[in-house]
Formats: sequence, structure tokens, C-alpha cells
Amino acid sequence: MLKSFVAVSAGLIGGAHAFWRMECPGRVGVARIDPIVNPGSVSMHAHSIHGSGAFAETVTSADLVNADCTSCRVTQDKSAYWHPALYFKDSDTGEFELVEQVGGMLAYYLLYGDNITAFPTNFRMLSGTNDRRTYTAGDPSEPDPEKSLWESLGQTDQDTLAQRALGFNCLNYAKTPEGTLYRHYLPDKAYLDANCADGIRFEIMFPSCWKGGDETDSDDHKSHVAFPDLVMTGTCPDDYPVRLPSLMYEVIWNTADYTSRNGEFVIANGDTTGYGYHADFIMGWEEDVLQSAVTTCTSDTGLIEDCPVFDVVTESVAESCEMTLPDALAKEDVEGPMSGLPGGVQINYGDGAVETASTSAAPSTSTGSNPTLTYAPGASASNSASPLPGDVFKESVVSAAAAVTTTTTIITSSSSDAVVGVEAIATTPAPVAATSATESFYSTQYVTNGDVVSKILWEEELVYVTQLEEQTVTVTVTSTTVVGGPTAAARRRRRGAHMHGHGHHHY
Ligand SMILES: *[C@@H]1O[C@H](CO)[C@@H](O)[C@H](O)[C@H]1NC(C)=O
Repeated sequence: MLKSFVAVSAGLIGGAHAFWRMECPGRVGVARIDPIVNPGSVSMHAHSIHGSGAFAETVTSADLVNADCTSCRVTQDKSAYWHPALYFKDSDTGEFELVEQVGGMLAYYLLYGDNITAFPTNFRMLSGTNDRRTYTAGDPSEPDPEKSLWESLGQTDQDTLAQRALGFNCLNYAKTPEGTLYRHYLPDKAYLDANCADGIRFEIMFPSCWKGGDETDSDDHKSHVAFPDLVMTGTCPDDYPVRLPSLMYEVIWNTADYTSRNGEFVIANGDTTGYGYHADFIMGWEEDVLQSAVTTCTSDTGLIEDCPVFDVVTESVAESCEMTLPDALAKEDVEGPMSGLPGGVQINYGDGAVETASTSAAPSTSTGSNPTLTYAPGASASNSASPLPGDVFKESVVSAAAAVTTTTTIITSSSSDAVVGVEAIATTPAPVAATSATESFYSTQYVTNGDVVSKILWEEELVYVTQLEEQTVTVTVTSTTVVGGPTAAARRRRRGAHMHGHGHHHY
């Protein structure tokens, strides 16, 4: 075993906003149930469902709260979180199978804005559009314009913001992570195979501005809420004055399992583009606990353990929570291999397509040629050990980025005692009116380069810097790279880390 000690400055991650990352390591089920869109009946497509064990075809907040378990790790949160599942269609056999979901789901509660109000009882909402199959907010093969330009470009309308609220993050833990909400479409299988060795992370942001009053829902389950003008951050429209917690889901699908097979990935609603990805939420918190958390969980580590009002349980307790399926669905195969998607959903390429239509218009570009937005590290130069996802906080990074130079060199060798190092040289500007605070925490990451598996232990030191009107955070990552040959033990450990996914939330 060799040891090398390398200092890595990850540059600036702006915005010392408090947040917590609700970990939902378990799934209460995969089923054609959607109490928002299809209350009281079977839904059109299959969802992966997290949270309250009382999830059912019809539910109120009280039903959810009264459940005896949740698949998330905070017992006072019995909210329902769900999203369509991802399938693989094998083109040799024509059969579909459920892709492995890695590490459950994370629900980020980002505390942007002032005077944040907890979701009220019976509050529910939908983000994303089931039947969308095209992107109309610009060229999806190009990164978004800088957020500071959105308003002048006329890109702060709700339709544009909703399309930018979707992210498909190409995971390759040997590279610097892509930014959150960087790519707005699902890359095709050829791209995934070539670039995304650790799978794909679906990201979806919910609106965080609310009309208020009694409007806990609306006919389309969307128009009672709105996005602020920068999707996550920014200003709420005048008609939506109440600022809610900013909710974002992250789900990792192990598309890398399929590199040796021919076929394509399709979301349960028949969408191969990703533009039709969507997700749902029903409030199931003890309301006073959520309001208290909004006020008192001021940590910016994102760790639920750091919030004093939360009762946190282990992953295995959360994973043991399951919902009870209605009889009509109890025997439905949602995992495959099977001849079609659950509910008989056809792959459909056209906007507004009826999900169960037996014919669907061929896409103007042929199947499997989604846009090609090149892999690019997140602007914050964060890494997967960072407490912050990609560049969630990109808004602040824009002003800071110009002053930061980061060079990353990856040295690899395949001999068993080789040095595998990650080296980065960074210059950061002299802090403007530096204040003070330091915090450390640790994370472990396993990286495979050739046949060498290296374990990286991350120690992070946060130095808070006051700049302009909002705080920015300088993150210094010190990585100790322990290098060894590809021992079976190392492989097992790496597999363990992978199974739990979301490397950035393990400390
Ligand atoms: C905070 O928001 C609530 C609505 O949830 C509103 O009634 C109250 O006036 C707001 N307070 C301030 C100081 O803006």
C-alpha cells in the first residue's frame, strides 16, 4: 500500500444556504399508483415511491402522517415522494426490465429566500410534464445561459423554468461531477455507455413559490405554485408571495449495468427523451416540526443528523417500510423481464402523445439519437465528496468563478502498486472581508482506474467568506489517496459504496 497526500482545492461553492438532505434509502414500492393525478384508481404508469408507508390510491396528509413507518430517515417526515421508474428495453429480446435504483432517493430541502413557510396540511404538487417530448427553452445541446442573463433573454417564464428544473447528471466518479440541472434530457444509451460509468442521476426541482391561503392544490396540481425566476433561487412572481422550502429530488439509476447489452432506456411513461420526467409530492410532515426545522436547521452540511429537531433512524429501519398494494395491483409485474411496460404503456415520441396509444409517431430524429451535450464539470468544481450537489449553488458561483483557477490532473497506472493520485492546483482570490468559521467532515469515495481501486478519504474545511450581499463558501478538500491493488476486499467495499450510491452523502 502506498499513500500519497494531495491537497485539492475545490474552489468556491457559493451560497452558504442552510439545507438538509432527506435521505430515503428505501422504496415503499413500485406500482401504478398516483394519488395526485389518478386519485382512487390505478395510474397509467409505474412509479417508484418513497416516504410514508400509508401511500395509497387516495391519501390525505393525515393518512400519511398516521402511517407507522416511512422509508425516509426522519420519523417526523411521512411525506409521499414519487416519480416514474426507469426501464431498459432489450432490443434483442424486445423485453423490458426495471433498472436498479441506487441508494433510494434524496429529497433536498433547500432553504432559499426569506420567511420560509412550511408546506401546509394537504399541500400537494407536481413538477414536470408527463407528455412533453421536446425542449423549447433553447438548444438542449448547449449549456444554459448564465442565470444573470435569463431575464434579459426572456427566459424567466414558467414554461422555460419548468424545463430547466430537470437534470440528468452523467455519473462518473473518476471525473469531476457535472453540475446539478446541467443537462435537461436523458442521454441515449451510446452516450451513457461511453461516458457515465456510474449511471445517471435524475434531478428534479419543485416550484417554491406559493399563492398561499387555502390553495393547497389546483386542478392541474401546478398552478397554485410557481418557480422563482432562477428555478431554485431568485424572486417569486407577485401572485405567489409565500416562499416554501425548495424541494429537489435526486435518484440514481444504474444504467451502467447494461453496457454489454443492446437496447434503450425508457421512463415508465414511455419517454426516452427525459423531457417528460416529472415527480410528485404530498405533505406528510408533522407541520410544526417542518416549520421548526426551517427555522432551526441552520447547518449548511445538509446532514439530517445536524438538525436538532429531527429523530433520525438507521438506513435499515427506513428500508424496512413498505406500503400495502391494492388487490388489483398486488400481482402486477413491475420488474420484468416482461413484454411491455407496466400498464401497457407504449414508447411514445411525440408531444402530447396518449400514453397507451398503440402507434406513436416516429421521432423526427431516429431513436437513440438524443442531443449531445458534452460532459462538463460543474462550475463550482465540487466533487462527489462535497456536501453540496454539483453546482446547486451556481448562482453565487458565477460571480466567484472568474476569480478561481482550478487545474485538475489525474494520474493513473494499472500496476498493482501504482500511485493513483488526484492532484489539483488552485488559486483563490484573497477573501474579501473574511470572517471565520471552520468545519470539517469526512467522506469516503472509491474510484476505479484500470484495475486499481483507490479509496479516497475526504476531509473538508469550510472557510466562510463574506462577499457582496450573500455569503460564499470556500471549500478546501484534502484527499488522502490510499492505493492498493484490486483486492477482492477493495472490490467488495467499492461495490458496497456503489450500492448505497450518492457517495456524497456518506460520512
Ligand atoms: C411570512 O409569510 C407569511 C405567509 O406564510 C405571512 O403571513 C407573513 O406576513 C410573512 N412575514 C413577513 C415578515 O414577511
